[in-house]
Amino acid sequence: MKKIKIESTLYVYDTLEELPENIQNLMKHAIEAREKAYAPYSKFHVGAALLLDNEEIISGSNQENASYPSGLCAERTAIFYAGAKYPKAKIVSMAITAASQNQKTTTPIPPCGACRQSIAEYEVKQEVPIEIYFMGQSGKIAKSDSLANLLPLVFDKASL
Ligand code: THU
Repeated sequence: MKKIKIESTLYVYDTLEELPENIQNLMKHAIEAREKAYAPYSKFHVGAALLLDNEEIISGSNQENASYPSGLCAERTAIFYAGAKYPKAKIVSMAITAASQNQKTTTPIPPCGACRQSIAEYEVKQEVPIEIYFMGQSGKIAKSDSLANLLPLVFDKASL
């Protein structure tokens, strides 16, 4: 028996102004998308924006449903739209922001497990890491250089 230790590295920025300019702009798109979320049930509004290697920006927000599991998270709304619209483009960066109507989110809110799995599919497919920036409504912004950092022991096509 041997013990295996898994480590992930995140970078934390104190303010939006500290981010590279193109990422500040990407986060602005995520905030605008968040403001368009349809979240009457959870009152938790999420926006995601993707920067593609063709310089397009694709954004999405969470879309809820009276039949709860039929709704979709912001990250998957954006990533599936990007895959559908620009199937050959690679995703360079992703910005995510979440705001709750029940409390102020002041710490970075990471993508849920299902979204991590979906983002992993595209990272594996494009063979280039996707950098992911995530934040709450305000406060610090966390950055991961790759989805792999957020989902160690990924399940992907290699197992099929
Ligand atoms: N949600 C997202 O959009 N992204 C996540 O990564 C976490 C959760 C949405 C789903 C649901 O509409 C609401 O937030 C509460 O879970």
